Amino acid sequence: MNNFRELAKQVKDFGLAKKENWLDLEDQEKISKIISSIKPKKGSKKSWLSVSLSSHLIKLIKLDIKNLSRSFYLLNVAKKYKLQEIANDIFNHRSKLIGIDFYYNVKSTDPVLDWHCDTAYSGQLNVKNFIHPEDYSIKFFFYLTNVSSDNGCLSYIPNSNRVTHALKKGIYEKKLEYTPYWSLEDYKKTILINKNFNYIKDLIGENLLNEFIKKVSFILENKKKTRIYDNEIKKGGAVVFDETGIHRGSKTSLNDRMALRFFYKKI
Ligand SMILES: [Fe+2]
Repeated sequence: MNNFRELAKQVKDFGLAKKENWLDLEDQEKISKIISSIKPKKGSKKSWLSVSLSSHLIKLIKLDIKNLSRSFYLLNVAKKYKLQEIANDIFNHRSKLIGIDFYYNVKSTDPVLDWHCDTAYSGQLNVKNFIHPEDYSIKFFFYLTNVSSDNGCLSYIPNSNRVTHALKKGIYEKKLEYTPYWSLEDYKKTILINKNFNYIKDLIGENLLNEFIKKVSFILENKKKTRIYDNEIKKGGAVVFDETGIHRGSKTSLNDRMALRFFYKKI
């Protein structure tokens, strides 16, 4: 997919789009070097580093040249690959870069981060302040190693972003009552509450909602072992997705995984 408009449309419609061969070889090499520099020490499974966007002045004062040049380089990567334009297009609104981070995951058979929804209050029973439905990020997830099923890929239920946006809107506007929906089991229960079902149906249409429920039921009936929503992707490619959708992370059973992420929010 070369056309950015098409990519943005896919994220708007389904919640996620993937693009192979996005980073050129030079950038792949440079970024891999940066991520390798945080390779975890023996005994540790993963490491993570956030790139500060606001402390350039502090870095200058401290003469932290290495970190400063790394931040500038990564900001340039975002510019070169037109991430902001794509995010604007997805949001139909101006957006801004709110974060950059990168991960190094060591090859491991540790369990996956199961199906979940990022903006679901981690399943808390009592929530005092609900997030505005328009307060969410678009994530660009670049891979510097190949990812596949059971090997570091991201799985995503198509259209789940649209269902969750509607649910969040109803809860925020106090038209629906909050019940935990972080896990897939709880999510299904929440959606099937009559009042919730009818509210979401009116916003996104009955067909889309029923299709989504079918997908969720299929995943649960197959004890979450299905791979049909896995996004296999080669080194240099990326997935772009709306974090509101339901997704899961996979163990990295074949090789170490390196990833660089950029987050955008509406201004
Ligand atoms: Fe997540």
